[in-house]
Amino acid sequence: MTNAIDVNALTKSFGSFTAVHNVNMTVKKGEYMGLLGPNGAGKSTMLKVITGMLSPTSGSTSVNGIDCRDHRRAMETVGCVIETPECYPNFTPTEVLSYVGKLRGITGPGLNARIREVLDEVRMWEWRDKPIGKFSKGMKQRVTLAQALMPDPDILILDEPTSGLDPRGMVEVREILKGLKRDNRSLLVSTHMLNEVSEVCNSVTVIRRGQVILSDNVKELLRKNTGNVTLEVYVRNSITQEFMDALRRFDNVVAAERTDENSFTARFSGNDDREGIVELVKRHDLKLFSLNQKGSDLESLYLSLTGEEDKDDIR
Ligand SMILES: Nc1ncnc2c1ncn2[C@@H]1O[C@H](COP(=O)(O)OP(=O)(O)OP(=O)(O)O)[C@@H](O)[C@H]1O
Ligand SMILES: [Mg+2]
Repeated sequence: MTNAIDVNALTKSFGSFTAVHNVNMTVKKGEYMGLLGPNGAGKSTMLKVITGMLSPTSGSTSVNGIDCRDHRRAMETVGCVIETPECYPNFTPTEVLSYVGKLRGITGPGLNARIREVLDEVRMWEWRDKPIGKFSKGMKQRVTLAQALMPDPDILILDEPTSGLDPRGMVEVREILKGLKRDNRSLLVSTHMLNEVSEVCNSVTVIRRGQVILSDNVKELLRKNTGNVTLEVYVRNSITQEFMDALRRFDNVVAAERTDENSFTARFSGNDDREGIVELVKRHDLKLFSLNQKGSDLESLYLSLTGEEDKDDIR
């Protein structure tokens, strides 16, 4: 079966700077792929080559088996939103979508029906006749998503669809993306948030400095990498050396450290054993004050995948 998207040995340079270096990636039909990487990793550049906005320096990309250099044909079944496009502020969603629909060859009564469907899908029907200029960022983002959905695409390519949104806006857009799943529809979505990938996608390709670090099934990636949990525990009385020794003898504790007289951290390699820790605290006549997980599994996994030093890696 033909893949939805194929990226073959893709390199894209700007002058002497190589933004994407020999990248291979496949998105199968029905697959929801997250393209994960820090700022400057090359996500937008890759998506621009796939959607024909940039031509490759070497290598190739194809969509449904059609080379993306044949832009018109390749994009027929694709809906995309790359970076943050501006909508005309005086236009209403209905006006913009009717324009986009006509460009995509949708005419007659089918056009209005399709506008209704996509505005329902992005939960913007009640705003259909209001000028877009008055909308919040999240609402504008949903209108751009609606534009991408107009041709009922079997491939959706979205560049950081939740970028710049507040937490509620992010949740709404993610919920909408989940609701767009169809058996034969594929999604390629870039993000720098692993939790977004784990919520929306079933596969992930991690890129850093223009190169693929790993490509995996999301569940597998999370399964292989759980167990980096560190617990931080506070007690009301003094922690003894005997207690720390006993703690270090726990099967899956890989590191344990007293952080001050009344607190310690324990890092686990498998499932964390909270009950065991509470038992041990009791057995050593310590009084538990609090027990918390430091950071989240996803945060630490993301940092270990992308490199902590790359938080603002604009080169
Ligand atoms: N037109 C261009 N000319 C020169 N350099 C560019 C151009 N477009 C991108 N770059 C560089 O290529 C690298 C990758 O940029 P890209 O926009 O693809 O990153 P990104 O992963 O999308 O980052 P972000 O998360 O910040 O959107 C960056 O170092 C950027 O400065
Ligand atoms: Mg980008």
